Amino acid sequence: MVSTHVPTTRLVVLASGNGSNLQAVLDACATAVLPARVVGVVSNTSTAFALQRAATAGVPSVHVGALEGESRRDYDGRLAEVVAGFEPDLVVLAGWMRILSDAFLGRFPDRVVNLHPALPGELPGTRAIERAWKQALAGERDESGIMVHHVPDEGVDDGPVIATVRVPIRPDDTLATFEQRMHDAEHRLLVDALGGLCRDLAAARPTSTIR
Ligand code: GRF
Repeated sequence: MVSTHVPTTRLVVLASGNGSNLQAVLDACATAVLPARVVGVVSNTSTAFALQRAATAGVPSVHVGALEGESRRDYDGRLAEVVAGFEPDLVVLAGWMRILSDAFLGRFPDRVVNLHPALPGELPGTRAIERAWKQALAGERDESGIMVHHVPDEGVDDGPVIATVRVPIRPDDTLATFEQRMHDAEHRLLVDALGGLCRDLAAARPTSTIR
């Protein structure tokens, strides 16, 4: 009997906090919506709920905290070692709240993707959802959105775009209702974008044959 074995894409997710996007990816992998496996979760925050989500899903997780006086490059080098140990095909920044230098990115060329709750070129940095909502209150915008992009360098929330979705800001929105809609949209977009990347990687892989 001859069967064709297509290896699933190995994902390592970096998350600093709640990890609701990590959860969306874990759920999509578990239900085979995403042809991938989360092989490791890394957080820079020891109390990140993302670490508990990983444990619940049976996924190895590691806390890599910054040491007293440690340079960013040294931290990034240590982080890269830990992540490389999981042998990822893709490294997913899902609520990862540190800027990564080339000491990390150079280890995973074309393999790091970031999720940001704003459209390309808009609202880089933290609290993008709240800033968009405040701009809407001031009459300066009536929508925001989500993007998933490659991370080629240290540019903050900037890089070749993989996928975007627009999210309207409704006149009766509170920050809470708008935030919920943004989170729902980013959970869907992240899974969709990773699905496309997984398919591309699978197509580029030589197929091994098991006899
Ligand atoms: C998300 O809005 C993500 O886009 C932003 O930080 C938030 C993290 O949420 N960078 P969670 O930890 O995935 O719940």
